[in-house]
Amino acid sequence: MTGDVWVELEKAAREVMEKAYAPYSDFRVGAAVRGDDGVVTVGCNVENASFPAGLCAERAAVASAVARGTRCFTHLVIATEADAPTPPCGMCRQVFVEFGASSELEILSVTRNGARARWRLNDLVPSPFTTASLTHH
Ligand code: THU
Repeated sequence: MTGDVWVELEKAAREVMEKAYAPYSDFRVGAAVRGDDGVVTVGCNVENASFPAGLCAERAAVASAVARGTRCFTHLVIATEADAPTPPCGMCRQVFVEFGASSELEILSVTRNGARARWRLNDLVPSPFTTASLTHH
């Protein structure tokens, strides 16, 4: 995978972060996912006065991509204004377990000041609960 893929995703994540609706936390997040079809889809966090109704940027991106027909993701970039790069929250990790490419999803998190960190989904979720876990008969 060329560096250009990451460059494109990082630009998209930083741009969509500007659209975040985060008046309660003041923590704006942008996410860009790349599907195994090569298509890039973005999302931002969308908060709500009823706090639990808020949506993370990563899941907003996944929902949009799935609606377009992509169900398998190979790359994720998260952009925030935090001092240190932040990994995806537990709920978003679980969503990527459902739609990751054999859990080999590569994750890059970037900040405004240029700090960055990389993870693989299977390192963040070493013992995933998957659709195969649902067998009970
Ligand atoms: N948030 C995300 O959008 N993605 C993450 O990976 C972590 C948290 C959002 C949820 C909430 O709107 C705000 O950041 C503070 O938690």
